Amino acid sequence: MGSPSAPPARLGAFFSFFLFFLLVFLAVPWGVDGGYNVASVAGSKNRLKARLDFAGGTAPELGPDVERLSLTASLETDSRLHVRITDADHPRWEVPQDVIPRPTPELSLDAPRPGGRVLSTATSDLTFAIHTSPSFRFTVSRRSTGDVLFDTTPDLVFKDRYLELTSSLPADRASLYGLGEHTKRTFRLQRNDTFTLWNSDIAAGNVDLNLYGSHPFYLDVRSAPPVGSRRGNGAGAAHGVLLLNSNGMDVIYGGSYVTYKVIGGVLDFYFFAGPSPLAVVDQYTQLIGRPSPMPYWSFGFHQCRYGYKNVADLEGVVAGYAKARIPLEVMWTDIDYMDAFKDFTLDPVNFPADRLRPFVDRLHRNGQKYVVILDPGINVNTTYGTFIRATKQDIFIKWNGSNYLGVVWPGNVYFPDFLNPRAAEFWAREIAAFRRTIPVDGLWVDMNEISNFVDPPLLNALDDPPYRINNSGVRRPINNKTVPASAVHYGGVAEYNAHNLYGFLEARATHAALLRDTGRRPFVLSRSTFVGSGRYTAHWTGDNAATWDDLRYSINTMLNFGLFGIPMIGADICGFGGNTTEELCSRWIQLGAFYPFSRDHSAIGTVRRELYLWESVTRSARKALGLHYRLLPYIYTLMYEAHTTGAPIARPLFFSYPGDVETYGIDRQFLLGRGVLVSPVLEPGATTVTAYFPAGRWFSLYYYSLAVATKTGKRVTLPAPADTVNVHVAGGNILPLQQPALTSWRVRQSVFHLLVALGDDGTAAGDLFLDDGESPEMVGARSKWSQIKFSGATENGGGVVRVRSHVVHDSYAPSRTLVIGKVVLMGLPSPAPPKGFAVYVNGVQVDANTVAGAAAGSPKNGALGVAHVGGLSLAVGQEFDLKVVMTY
Ligand code: NOJ
Repeated sequence: MGSPSAPPARLGAFFSFFLFFLLVFLAVPWGVDGGYNVASVAGSKNRLKARLDFAGGTAPELGPDVERLSLTASLETDSRLHVRITDADHPRWEVPQDVIPRPTPELSLDAPRPGGRVLSTATSDLTFAIHTSPSFRFTVSRRSTGDVLFDTTPDLVFKDRYLELTSSLPADRASLYGLGEHTKRTFRLQRNDTFTLWNSDIAAGNVDLNLYGSHPFYLDVRSAPPVGSRRGNGAGAAHGVLLLNSNGMDVIYGGSYVTYKVIGGVLDFYFFAGPSPLAVVDQYTQLIGRPSPMPYWSFGFHQCRYGYKNVADLEGVVAGYAKARIPLEVMWTDIDYMDAFKDFTLDPVNFPADRLRPFVDRLHRNGQKYVVILDPGINVNTTYGTFIRATKQDIFIKWNGSNYLGVVWPGNVYFPDFLNPRAAEFWAREIAAFRRTIPVDGLWVDMNEISNFVDPPLLNALDDPPYRINNSGVRRPINNKTVPASAVHYGGVAEYNAHNLYGFLEARATHAALLRDTGRRPFVLSRSTFVGSGRYTAHWTGDNAATWDDLRYSINTMLNFGLFGIPMIGADICGFGGNTTEELCSRWIQLGAFYPFSRDHSAIGTVRRELYLWESVTRSARKALGLHYRLLPYIYTLMYEAHTTGAPIARPLFFSYPGDVETYGIDRQFLLGRGVLVSPVLEPGATTVTAYFPAGRWFSLYYYSLAVATKTGKRVTLPAPADTVNVHVAGGNILPLQQPALTSWRVRQSVFHLLVALGDDGTAAGDLFLDDGESPEMVGARSKWSQIKFSGATENGGGVVRVRSHVVHDSYAPSRTLVIGKVVLMGLPSPAPPKGFAVYVNGVQVDANTVAGAAAGSPKNGALGVAHVGGLSLAVGQEFDLKVVMTY
């Protein structure tokens, strides 16, 4: 009877019993039993349609089950499978076509299918199969390997406000990434974790909570199956899974399964075949939209702060950067510039137009840019022009028959309803009018989750549906600190369904407004995002804190947004909340200089953290940003790649080394593009960094020397002095570089260097994309751009190196006047400096004046030779064949 003196045997039995139940509990994903039977299957070669009938048995407290479901599965392309399950008899909310235009499944497919319940074609690597026992379930497999990628359990639940579907996963082989937006301790998703998707104004300094955006997409990389296994030998093969649904949801990842618990919409799945990680994001962004090209200047360094006092304060900051000779590309102003926090107004005392305008004009004359913040809430104030115009246009979100009244910075506000086309028009006019006073170069749209400082009451089942998602980690009502779910948008759409789209819609409207007003490529930074937001906006990771943990986690979020098709991403450098320290700020700029979007930002009331404030941070900033600015042509070429193929700018290591399972868990380092590896210091007091180097040769980008050579990949501890971040380039890459300067505008006019890092096989390749950096389209009939491919190879056992350029496209005229003045060859077979050089361009010997050679790298690593071939003048836009002959 539970006496403290119970014999150990009884205790043991009790524990075994308890353990048994615990194991059963852990092994079976918690959920409600449900299920459907397959009533009929029809279709054509690429499409299949099935009707499913409710088989009984699910939790009545979550509402009645939908009796008849319709399933369509279509192989939409050779690498994309679409599986959609919805109510067969009643239309339901779905992500509007206008948000993500996509082919609609053809519904009248009545012919009996020759292929029965299987969908498979000779050209698609994905196959789909319906199974009927014990009840309906489906599988998605990779045809080439037989690997089962998605394998649903028979307990599908489909109610009006609760949908549940589980897929089994091979726990030992699957590595999952994505499902954001959350701050995570690791980039690879950890087992037994719940990913709640409901856009919320929750500070990013909180780990594991739903944050500002919703991206129900994951990428799964499969390692090799156990030896002897017949199936799934696709080692390093990746695929992607999107649940295209804008409703709130919990996604539970249990290692051996993933369960979706969604409070509305339909089960609209897309599977992307890969098999390389780059192919997955290519296929994904082909569906959701390619990342918007960002202006060239936006890849420079940005400075912001919540709490700049007045124009003199801004002027002081700009002067501080200039004096310290740290690059400053863009100056920002937070809500401080507004009159009582009202959008499109200026504080008449601290930021009056007659002070702010000359400040912005001076920035522009100096090749610098200016960006300000906008919040969605429009102050309810009958003397405020913007409010009067919005009211006349009747564009606000409604609730109980009137405009929904929220509270944000300016006090009482109404929120423009960006589902209403009139709201986008209103917004565009306000932006254009404001730009007549202050010609801002870009806009920052904040608080658009939507953030509301009051909790609306729970009036009905929309405000508090039967299943409470894990909002804020404690199953807070979905109305918490936002617009009520029962509020109504244009066309009668409930906020319940459209909530997660608000930031997307506002960013789209802002992008369109800037484009219309300026005729130039817009720069928009949005806090809230949804699937496809990358078509319009950049993103930052939100309100992090000035801690070493936040420094570290910023890599995880950055890499995730690369997967989500939003490659222009960064975190607030030096930390937003709390007081930063000199050492943290110094290490943060060393990492942050390599965020695609590199901005220092901080909260009001905290210590200032402009980079010039400390000597040591200044040194770090000059060094890291100096390299970043030299790399601008390379980074901008990555923007082109992102825009045309969805490839992230900052990538996890496994994107370049999918066959190396060691890379799957790496999130303290990342790649810029294919082969530039950033290995930052992420701990206080460190003077070294232990970094993983995949197989190959790695050269330091600071010293142009061989740092690591490995046949299989290895961990190496490298010196990381206080002012230095380790950045390496992999053998096999050619990087186009320019000269460092304080603005990107100056960099763009400087001479190019070509850094040729020869791989083990003696070859290397690279790309360069050039345009004016601000035309709306990067590539298109009306745009002028140039694309050059470089290749390098050794001949004659390494005594000769050939570097060739191939001009793929050349309509950007300056490409013919910009020149490559120097080619650096790294990885020459002989470490000894050559005795002599002969240099030929297109077969003609030239007098290359500064030809020098030196061994580089430690002999322990097997030192390889380096040669600097200077004094060249090779027009970037003209094909050349450079031959360097070395005599030893
Ligand atoms: C919240 C944003 O995340 C932060 O960056 C900004 O400084 C404040 N709002 C004030 O506008």
